[in-house]
Amino acid sequence: MESKIRKAVFPVAGLGTRFLPATKANPKEMLTVVDKPLIQYAAEEAVNAGIKELIFVTSSSKRAIEDHFDKNYELEAELERKGKLDLLTIVREVVPDDVSCIYVRQPEALGLGHAVLCAAPIVGNEPFAVILADDLIYAAQNCVLAQMVSVFNDRECSILGVEEVPRDETDKYGIVDPETSDGRITKVKTIVEKPSPAEAKSNLAVVGRYVLTSRIFHHLIDIPRGAGGEIQLTDAIARLMLEESVLGYRFEGKRYDCGSKLGYLQATVEYALLHPDLREPFREYLVSEFGQRAKNRLRAIND
Ligand code: UTP
Repeated sequence: MESKIRKAVFPVAGLGTRFLPATKANPKEMLTVVDKPLIQYAAEEAVNAGIKELIFVTSSSKRAIEDHFDKNYELEAELERKGKLDLLTIVREVVPDDVSCIYVRQPEALGLGHAVLCAAPIVGNEPFAVILADDLIYAAQNCVLAQMVSVFNDRECSILGVEEVPRDETDKYGIVDPETSDGRITKVKTIVEKPSPAEAKSNLAVVGRYVLTSRIFHHLIDIPRGAGGEIQLTDAIARLMLEESVLGYRFEGKRYDCGSKLGYLQATVEYALLHPDLREPFREYLVSEFGQRAKNRLRAIND
């Protein structure tokens, strides 16, 4: 069956202040986990979910993203000349031939909702996905967006990727008020951006994966600035819920918040331990450097 979701929007126009100075001239989404930039993991996830158009919402300091997905003739010719065919394949496979990349500018960082709205003329009147590349999600089998697209193909309504977060962290996320649950799928009653732990209706947080109907644009045009003075996607989703059903989907996978330094470091260590060439030597390094020391320290504490 042909998927009903053909387009994915990647909002990459944020300032990335938590990673300064690394993000002063380079986009946060080009931070590398082992050997791939975050934005490539996100693009691969979209392609694996059957998406054919990748729409990047960029800003002035994000040229590296366009270059990354563009052809690099000089590099390819050099790799070919030197017979480095494995590397040539890696470079050529960054984007498959039947997938196109489209770039649109967000003139000012007015918030995630505004960034998604900037993609409206390209998305048009069809449902689409949104991926936040700094939420890197490892799924052993079916990638998270593919899981969500399959729910959409069945239910034909907007789907939010959700997971439980510690209660004292609700003020970092859009938090949903769940109604009824059926396995991984939850009907959502309301959604609030960054509520305090005392105000939050649950600890079920929306993370960086969405499948939305195009009706969301109608609300994004209209909403006032919300939390942090930004035009919030969450606020538009809250309005969408008043006229269409919206589902939360508890995805199968492990999320790393690569917009924060700690999450980024955790992802780097765990992805290195999954990498076919690095797995063994890196594990040996960790055990020899930290294993014995950690054991010694624990022993000292126990003594
Ligand atoms: P974040 O809330 O992580 O903000 O945005 P940020 O600016 O990227 O990073 P910090 O908090 O300053 O460190 C979530 C996603 O929305 C995009 C970001 O690029 C990121 O993927 N975004 C945010 C935009 O595209 N435009 C905006 O105006 C704001």
